[in-house]
Amino acid sequence: MSVTSKFLKNIQKHRENKKEVKFKGCLEDYLKLVEQTPAITCLAHKRLYNQIMSYGLTTLDETDARCNKLFDGEIVKIYNYFSDQFFGMERPLEKVMRFLRSAAMKGEESRQVLLLLGPVGAGKSALVEHIKGALEASPAAYVLDGCPIREEPLHLIPRSLRGKFEEHYNIKIEGDLCPVCRHRLLNEFEGDFTQFPITQSSFSIRGRKGVGVVPPMDPNTQDTSLLIGSEDISKLDLYPEDDPRVLSLNGAFNVGNRGIVEFVEVFKNEIEFLHTMITATQEKNVPSPGKQAMIYFDGVILAHCNEAEWNKFKSEHTNEAILDRIVRVNIPYCLEYKQEVKIYEKLIGRSDFNYHIAPHTLEVAAMFAVLSRLKASNKVDHLTKMKIYNGEEIVEKGSVKKVDIRDLREEADEEGMTGISTRFVMKAIDAALSDSTKNMITPISIKDALIKQVKEQIVNPEAKKVCLEFLRKTLHEEYLSILEKEITKAFVTAYEEQAESLFNNYLDHAEAYVNNTQVKDRVTKEDMEPDERFLQSIEEQIGIKGSAKNNFRADISSYMFAKLRRGEVIDWRSYGPLREAIESKLVASVKDISRIITKSKSRDVKQQKKFNSMAQTLIEDYGYNEDSAEEVIKFAANNLWRDS
Ligand SMILES: Nc1ncnc2c1ncn2[C@@H]1O[C@H](COP(=O)(O)OP(=O)(O)OP(=O)(O)O)[C@@H](O)[C@H]1O
Ligand SMILES: [Mg+2]
Repeated sequence: MSVTSKFLKNIQKHRENKKEVKFKGCLEDYLKLVEQTPAITCLAHKRLYNQIMSYGLTTLDETDARCNKLFDGEIVKIYNYFSDQFFGMERPLEKVMRFLRSAAMKGEESRQVLLLLGPVGAGKSALVEHIKGALEASPAAYVLDGCPIREEPLHLIPRSLRGKFEEHYNIKIEGDLCPVCRHRLLNEFEGDFTQFPITQSSFSIRGRKGVGVVPPMDPNTQDTSLLIGSEDISKLDLYPEDDPRVLSLNGAFNVGNRGIVEFVEVFKNEIEFLHTMITATQEKNVPSPGKQAMIYFDGVILAHCNEAEWNKFKSEHTNEAILDRIVRVNIPYCLEYKQEVKIYEKLIGRSDFNYHIAPHTLEVAAMFAVLSRLKASNKVDHLTKMKIYNGEEIVEKGSVKKVDIRDLREEADEEGMTGISTRFVMKAIDAALSDSTKNMITPISIKDALIKQVKEQIVNPEAKKVCLEFLRKTLHEEYLSILEKEITKAFVTAYEEQAESLFNNYLDHAEAYVNNTQVKDRVTKEDMEPDERFLQSIEEQIGIKGSAKNNFRADISSYMFAKLRRGEVIDWRSYGPLREAIESKLVASVKDISRIITKSKSRDVKQQKKFNSMAQTLIEDYGYNEDSAEEVIKFAANNLWRDS
């Protein structure tokens, strides 16, 4: 099938779907539906909450490593609707959902504004867009046909009948007819509310149906008509001044009725302008243009802004009334670099991406971003903190360093509200790419691009200095150690097997040493004394000397034994310190050859063969291409193995 005929099929399908008959009826028909499915009358917060929940909820529990290490074993809720697009944002999303849930149950939150507060590029706008998208996907709402604010049909039921209605249906009706519908009811249907036509209407961001957006406005041109609509001057000649037919109810609160009203950079607006927002939340009414009565409003009010605006706003005590009606949720930057990498991957995936990204490139960029966002700790250095926040084990002097992530978090209140933004990194990625003659980016080129950008764009001299230090020193060294391991792995044929065999040997000998027994050789089956030299050759890799070895060996034996007894599988990665020692032993074992072969310009035939096979492994097994492999090998040759 050609592309066009395929697409024509899509068009056909689209049409058929459109044909799905919308409900058309009067109050009696609607009441029957309500009896069947009372949920169709739910208010805006509940509609939104139910829609997001309909995608499902998963939890991270104790069985998940990320949960244990980062959330201290507390159960974390993952809302499926967000989970494939927002990363490292679990906690803020839980707060947003908690707000919606309480509001859906008509708690105080249903009369509050939800304010997302965070630094530039932390994903506030993207989050609001995504939430609005949920409404678009939700089932169409039942509305009064022709109503400019798409109001709930139950508003037709007069106050005097509402008590009875509530008794029968157990549903409370909120709100009254808007002036336009009231006028029509009296004039077109002679007050017979059972005749008023009812239909369905879906939500649309672009169509301004159920979604109203208020952009920040210049104080001079600020005009409340943007919020509540206006009187149509051309109609003022046709109708008397107080006739609702002159109204154009097309303000954000009108179109956002039953759905969402979004305030972009909310505190850039003048305070007078925000009063409508307050009335809308607190009284669930907005003024109507002209001389009409207030108009009932049912919607979720979402606002966002950055911290500078917020602090300025907060400091003025005249704003207290508004502050009291705001539920603030901080949207900090991501502080887990593995999750930050996923953000870049998402953004890169959106562009016409056809370049090569060498291994560890995005990781290095993400590490830089996270380092810049962390607050200094008294307990650990910056890089260590970054790793702990990423759920990594920190090995120090032969044991896993016990740092409680909770302590680090407590020490640093409101962390992640400053630092390098996602956009800054994305720009550096673009710059590195356009500087590349080989259509690729590597950890080395991204680092250079970041350095250049920091120099050009960061104004604060102190911040600039710190960022440059991260790039030139902290990350330079960190990347070299990553690269050294990678090249070693590529040099050592069957790295995994070698590591595994070192591990098994070490365990055998350490255990025999601890228990004062002999070791049975795995091949010859002969009994022999534990090999002290071998044991020490591993231990010295992580600085274990003298009597410290006794504890280390005893610790490992009991650790592994306990694991085996629980039926868990053990391998060379099971115990952090030993893993590090084994890796470092393997690195050392090929250090000389790595140095000679990567450095030397004139390799002999044997060396050339070894070099080629190493480069090939980098390409085939580790995701490099020829150019990037060449670049990192050159970099390693110039920067690693210097003094040895
Ligand atoms: N934690 C995250 N997960 C997924 N994507 C993210 C995350 N943080 C930022 N992004 C992405 O980064 C980009 C920039 O975010 P966005 O424009 O939403 O930021 P913002 O908070 O509105 O910033 P500003 O204050 O400058 O308006 C978006 O494409 C967004 O998808
Ligand atoms: Mg934004």
